[in-house]
Amino acid sequence: MSKFWSPKVKNLVPYVPGEQPKIPNLVKLNTNENPFGPSPKVIAAIQAELNDSLRLYPDPEGDTLRQTLAEYHSVQPEQVFLGNGSDEVLAHLFYALFQHDQPILYPDITYSFYPVYCGLYNVEGKAVPLTDSFEINPEDYTQPNGGIIFPNPNAPTGRYMGLEHIETILQANPERVVVVDEAYIDFGGETAIKLVDQYPNLLVTQTLSKARSLAGLRVGFAIGHPDLIEALNRVKNSFNSYPLDRLALAGAKAAYEDEEWFRKSCEGVISERERVTQSLEGLGFEVLPSKANFVFARHTEKSGENLAQGLREQGIIVRHFNKPRISEFLRITIGTAEQNDALIRGFQSL
Ligand SMILES: Cc1ncc(COP(=O)(O)O)c(C=O)c1O
Repeated sequence: MSKFWSPKVKNLVPYVPGEQPKIPNLVKLNTNENPFGPSPKVIAAIQAELNDSLRLYPDPEGDTLRQTLAEYHSVQPEQVFLGNGSDEVLAHLFYALFQHDQPILYPDITYSFYPVYCGLYNVEGKAVPLTDSFEINPEDYTQPNGGIIFPNPNAPTGRYMGLEHIETILQANPERVVVVDEAYIDFGGETAIKLVDQYPNLLVTQTLSKARSLAGLRVGFAIGHPDLIEALNRVKNSFNSYPLDRLALAGAKAAYEDEEWFRKSCEGVISERERVTQSLEGLGFEVLPSKANFVFARHTEKSGENLAQGLREQGIIVRHFNKPRISEFLRITIGTAEQNDALIRGFQSL
């Protein structure tokens, strides 16, 4: 605290990202990164961009990448908005598309950045409880609100909701924007992007951090009706005109031009996820059904906190949230087969 801080900063409660320790040989299963790495075509595209052109500003609108994403998702470029990671897209949409005089609805167990954005913009957030089986009940999203946001699959539960349930929420809220945060959609879910032409109140966000294995490049995007995209652009251009640098624009485009790498990477994560789930169940864990690149699991007898600590002492880190309803759970990112074997051996020893 300092006398130089604005009153707003004094009251901010910032998001706490998962740790990025600099410990060699760590089995790092705590921040849902993709263990298989980006396509070599992405690396080549970034290297090709490492030249004198770096003295020039990048394209502020990222037109080439927007065109690529529009073609990939069968929409128009005016329906695509780019951001420096999907976190930045989320920050802008909380400002641009939610009504600030009514509560923003999101699940009680969800991505913990949502309440942080509410705090940043001084908007009320209302946590809507998941069911006892940790699912979103669409009927709970019929109450008055200033906007709705949830991840699908949800994080940190990994639970996926079918598009028919998303349509129920959209139809119940024609005057409000409903945001589906699809950070993990490529690991077995069906994207709601196919609904954007039908629902002008739907905005879908995605990221290249997970399935495309580019968390370090910081690229995310939103797809929705051009009017929603225009609002996002107004905020973006009041904040930072160049959120994506030249390397990110080139690398992201190349990531969508290597479908085979993408498909293999997702398949690798999914098959390891099924193997890890079975192994954990064999060790006495309850594992929620996941369509993400992580599983959310609690042991029937052992404490989540102790298990996380025990793994840490063996150089394996997973995410433990000391929060109501989920304090016995561990969120475990799916790693390579070797990392997952180390995880299972780690649990066996505890
Ligand atoms: C549900 C959800 N949304 C959004 C993000 C942000 O992703 P990024 O900013 O890397 O695109 C994450 C990151 O873990 C996430 O879990």
